Amino acid sequence: MFCESNKELKTLVEEARTYTKDGKVADYIPALGKANPNDLSIAINYPDGHCVSAGDVSEKFTLQSISKVISLALVLIDRGSKEVFEHVGMEPTGDPFNSIAKLETMIPAKPLNPMINAGALVVTHLLKGSTNDEKLDRLLAFIQTLANDSTIGYSEEIARSEYETADLNRALCYFLKQHNRMNEDVEQLLNLYTKQCAIEMNCLHLARIGMVFAMDGVDPETSKQVIPKEVARICKTFMVTCGMYNASGEFAINIGIPAKSGVAGGIMGAVPGRFGIGIFGPALDDKGNSIAGIKLLEMLSKNYRLSMF
Ligand code: DON
Repeated sequence: MFCESNKELKTLVEEARTYTKDGKVADYIPALGKANPNDLSIAINYPDGHCVSAGDVSEKFTLQSISKVISLALVLIDRGSKEVFEHVGMEPTGDPFNSIAKLETMIPAKPLNPMINAGALVVTHLLKGSTNDEKLDRLLAFIQTLANDSTIGYSEEIARSEYETADLNRALCYFLKQHNRMNEDVEQLLNLYTKQCAIEMNCLHLARIGMVFAMDGVDPETSKQVIPKEVARICKTFMVTCGMYNASGEFAINIGIPAKSGVAGGIMGAVPGRFGIGIFGPALDDKGNSIAGIKLLEMLSKNYRLSMF
């Protein structure tokens, strides 16, 4: 994928990079601990095919929680919003992404939204396919279309590393199963979920996917509606209300762009009607969001008046 390196963006990246020292790479998934905390890259993808970037854009990373927006889009396409929202709610939690606290306070137990782990596990369990391989292949094919790259796959090392250590997510699944929110074999579901989270790409791909969401689901290169407009709208709304977890309110005020983060350090942004943004910066703040990535978005939003509010 060709993307022109851009001087202005480079200046912003170097300024934002100074914040990486205040963050920490995620290591609760041991294989993620190998990332270089100083890395920072960004790409902006426009609907006319133009792309500008700065930093080492060839650096690959795993989607982690960013995959939750994309699996939600696919499940909404497959099953429709009525069925999906019988299983998962629409409200932000104000809690960390892996929190179990609010699940027990909901009767019947229903995860508050699809961006927290409990909700994402329910969404992954709704992916269509008769085997895990079939479900993963469908999700990968969807992501390959959005990113316009048929070579995108997942990191076996990172998927395994998460699977072997995902006891909190196991606990969430058993809780949900006990309360009849899902009937799937927990190990099978974790196997699929950890592979979904380990889907790997660079920030150029991520910016392209963000651009398709920004353009209401239309791929401008083919003029095809690859995500129905209504599904893209729902996903972008979740990105605003829950995309940055318990930092979503502050992010909406300071930056005002639908965005989704992941603990590997990725952030996907979708500036409605304008362009997609892909960022990779693995040093995280205490809420699990890329610390320099947020600074970079803050500068971009202020300099170019990107807030939608
Ligand atoms: O379930 C997990 O813990 C990870 N696979 C994804 C979490 C994540 O990316 C949270 N994001 N900031």
